[in-house]
Amino acid sequence: MESKSIGVLTGGGDCPGLNAAIRAVTKTAIVRGYRVFGFRDGLSGLMEEDYEELDMSKTSGIIDRGGTILGTTGIDPASIEDYAPEGARLFEKLNMKALIIIGGNTTLTIASRLYDKGLPIVGIPKTIDNDVVGTDFSIGFHTAVEIATNALDRLRSTAESHNRVMMLEVMGRDSGWIATYAGLANGADAILIPEIPVDVDNLCDMLVHRFGTGKRFSVVVVAEGARIGGASYKEGGKLGGVSRALEAMIQEHTGLESRTTLLGHVQRGGTPIAYDRILATTYGVKAIDLIDGGQFGHMAALQGSQVKAVPLAEAADVLKMVDLDVFRIAEIFFG
Ligand code: F6P
Repeated sequence: MESKSIGVLTGGGDCPGLNAAIRAVTKTAIVRGYRVFGFRDGLSGLMEEDYEELDMSKTSGIIDRGGTILGTTGIDPASIEDYAPEGARLFEKLNMKALIIIGGNTTLTIASRLYDKGLPIVGIPKTIDNDVVGTDFSIGFHTAVEIATNALDRLRSTAESHNRVMMLEVMGRDSGWIATYAGLANGADAILIPEIPVDVDNLCDMLVHRFGTGKRFSVVVVAEGARIGGASYKEGGKLGGVSRALEAMIQEHTGLESRTTLLGHVQRGGTPIAYDRILATTYGVKAIDLIDGGQFGHMAALQGSQVKAVPLAEAADVLKMVDLDVFRIAEIFFG
């Protein structure tokens, strides 16, 4: 009997650490006697049967490489709603025991639906947003925090030189995890996140008070999904730009010179830090363990110091919002 195979794909926004996960999945699977098929460009590659066999050489030397060697795309969940029967035929054609789907909220929700319809699916959580329920951290988050923290550190020195309010707008979609962690690491004077309505008057009062105490500069980190008066901000149809609105409000309310930087996709690019390489590797090995154990419909997840199996259904259709206990720690150091 030909050896069983395992499929793997990366879906949704890319992030540092994806290649470390692909490497771990491939090497562990081959050592355990599986063939590995990598589907290109996420779930669209699965539906189009666009795949290549992965082996040790193709996944050698990629642990530190940003992005994903398989490519990725986001798809409309409706476009894959009736895919299961076709998928079953593909799995049989390739002798596939299971498919590993590496993704964030939307992709893992689709993974959960495909499992519910009978396909043997295992998930790995990745997204710089860290908003996947059931796992403490998703692949890519800590690297994005490192990048954002470095940017805040740099903005602090120029803010101090010019006696300015410097704002950094970071990604995170509808959660404020990157802003909270990077702000905590930098010692930001304010952190604005979707989980807490922005109080512009309170922010301006803090900035003016800080200037009055001799600290004639401030650093503020703003999550792109932060809301003013209940409204989030978009530019060109994409979430973002709230910090530009705040820059004008601060200048008008306080007279303080303000500048803002939108960090954007820099947070998604480049080499993963060691933490994400390790997290991705442990998730990749766990995914093969789940397949060997027949534990489909689950994803690898970090809870405390343990890598566990969490039902995909737990991560579907829900966002993990910021743990406000962490935010409250950062808040001690505001102003
Ligand atoms: O989900 C990851 C993420 O980077 C979000 O933080 C951000 O809002 C979004 O993707 C950007 O999407 P795109 O890459 O399609 O512009």
